[in-house]
Amino acid sequence: MDIIPLGPGFAVELCGVKVAEVVTDAAVYSAVRAAFEEHSVLVFRDQEVDDDAQLAFSRCFGPPEVTKVGSQGTGTHFVILSTIGKNGKVVPADHRLALRNRANQLWHTDSSFKRTPALTSVLSARIIPALGGETEFVSTRLAFERLEPKLRAKLENSFAWHDYAHSRGQIAADLTSPQERAALPPQCWRLVWKNPGNGRSALYLASHAYAIEGMEPTAGKKLLDELMAAATAPGTSYVHSWRSGDIVMWDNRATMHRGRPWPAHEARLMVRTTISATAVDGLETMRLSPQRAVQ
Ligand SMILES: [Fe+2]
Repeated sequence: MDIIPLGPGFAVELCGVKVAEVVTDAAVYSAVRAAFEEHSVLVFRDQEVDDDAQLAFSRCFGPPEVTKVGSQGTGTHFVILSTIGKNGKVVPADHRLALRNRANQLWHTDSSFKRTPALTSVLSARIIPALGGETEFVSTRLAFERLEPKLRAKLENSFAWHDYAHSRGQIAADLTSPQERAALPPQCWRLVWKNPGNGRSALYLASHAYAIEGMEPTAGKKLLDELMAAATAPGTSYVHSWRSGDIVMWDNRATMHRGRPWPAHEARLMVRTTISATAVDGLETMRLSPQRAVQ
C-alpha cells in the first residue's frame, strides 16, 4: 500500500488497496485504520463501487448509522445526496433537494447534531457533474494546533451546542420539518475531540454549532465564528475532484468538509454511509457531564 499526500498536512490517497480487501483481510484493515487515524481523509481510486460493497467496507470501522427522517434513504444505512427528482430530472433551484445541497455547502462535520456523533463518513460518487461538485476538507486537528496555548486550554474544557435546525436555518427558515425537529433535539459536545489512539486533539466544530455552554449567547456565537474562520483559513484545505470509481472516507472527529457548487442543471448523485463513534473512538470524553450542565 502506497500513501500519497494530497492536502496541506493531511489527506492522502491509498494506492494498491481495494476496499473489498479491507473487509476480508485483517492486516489490510489495520493498515487502512492506521492511515485513517493519522491522515484524517483517505482517498481510494478505481474501486468497484456499489451499495453493498460500500456498506461492507464501512462496517469494518464500527456500527452504521440509520438514515434520519426527512433524508433520502431514510430508514436504511445509506444517505442519498442528489438533486434528481422523482421524475428523473434535475429539480429546480428552490426545491427542497436543491436547498439541502446548498446546506451541505456550509462547513460541517457529519452528525454532530445526533445523539451519537459520527466517527467516519464514506462517500462515493455515482453521477458526477462535468464541472464543480468537489468536496473540500480542512483538518480541525491542524487548526487546533495552530491556536494559542491559552485558547487551546480553554477550549478543551468548553462545550458547544449543535442543532440541525440551526445549520439548515442559514439556508431557508422552513428547511427543517417538524418531524426532523422532534427527532433531532440539540446536542452538546466538548469543543475538542482528543483521539485516544494517538493523543492528538482536534476542534469539534460545525455549521450546526450555535452556542457555547455557560457563555452569553452573543459572545459564544462570536467565538464559534472566530474558530470556524481559523479552521477554514485560506490555504488550509484539500479539494477532492471526483472521478468515477472514487471512494473517500474522513474522520469526522478531526475534519470539516463542504460540498462545492456545480451548474444547477447538471445531475450529481452521491451515496454516503456513516459510522457512529463508540467508546474506543473517545466518544464518552465528549459528553457534557450532568454535574457540569447545572453549574
Ligand atoms: Fe457532510
